[in-house]
Amino acid sequence: MNKHVKIFAPATVANLSCGFDVLGCCLDNVGDEMIVSLSSEPGVRITKIDGADLPLETHKNVAGVAVEALLKEYKKDIGINIEIYKKIKAGSGIGSSAASSAGAVWAVNHLLNSPFTPQELVAFAMEGEKLASGNAHADNVAPALLGGFTLVRSYTPLDVIKLHAPEDLVMTVIHPQIEVKTADARSVIKQNVDLKKAIQQWGNVGGLVAGLFTEDYQLIGRSLEDVIIEPLRSILIPEFNNVKEAAIQKGALGCGISGSGPSIFALSKGIETANNVAESIKEVYQKTGLDFDIHVSKINKKGIKLIES
Ligand code: HSE
Repeated sequence: MNKHVKIFAPATVANLSCGFDVLGCCLDNVGDEMIVSLSSEPGVRITKIDGADLPLETHKNVAGVAVEALLKEYKKDIGINIEIYKKIKAGSGIGSSAASSAGAVWAVNHLLNSPFTPQELVAFAMEGEKLASGNAHADNVAPALLGGFTLVRSYTPLDVIKLHAPEDLVMTVIHPQIEVKTADARSVIKQNVDLKKAIQQWGNVGGLVAGLFTEDYQLIGRSLEDVIIEPLRSILIPEFNNVKEAAIQKGALGCGISGSGPSIFALSKGIETANNVAESIKEVYQKTGLDFDIHVSKINKKGIKLIES
């Protein structure tokens, strides 16, 4: 038995400022590759990891755990081998663990002739997120699996909605080469929210969703505001305020922490503005002496892509 698939598992930007744990979007040209194959030997094995120092033991690997969750529901004794070619650095804030867990379940579902819906795949992939951060959030795995922008309307029961993605939106992401573990970034968040701030936040979530569907770029920009999480987490990210100021000055619609950081995203209308934003935030970071990567990417409306089967 040697049926296999090679896939592109994309990076994602979670939260999108106002939507902590519920909003996310999928990037187009940043992501991992994976080769997943059926094996006659039952069980799930991570046979290769290239580009990162991550555990090969199935129960310690996000892809392994996510596929085991899928096979538990599939209820047949089959064998799966997984090779992971990591390009997204762990702890970068652009959905490194989500790419692996979403990519693995998508590939296995494809090999089994799609017995599960995308919504079910989100639930399996969330098991990987639980292993990575202690919390089964879906705001990275959902856009990786469904593509475009997604909203987790509810976790219990799981209800994930694909939102409209206006054609001209382009992401600029700067990834400072420091690691911020999601579990650590989650530990700085307060468990209670001030009602006035909550009102502002859910107004922005509604505004952002409306702005996406009506392609109202100014409304999207006004809604990219986080009054609850960003003030607490931004202190973990060098030059966050200066990057944000530089991005907005160059015309970005909005700018905020990508997922749990340290990456910072800026959303712009048009590639030219997104490139100008990249240049200006590069200037800010060059002064710090820290290494960094910058990505400029259109929104990937498809999500995970088949490279070869
Ligand atoms: N919503 C998550 C967080 C995304 O901000 O902690 C990180 O994976």
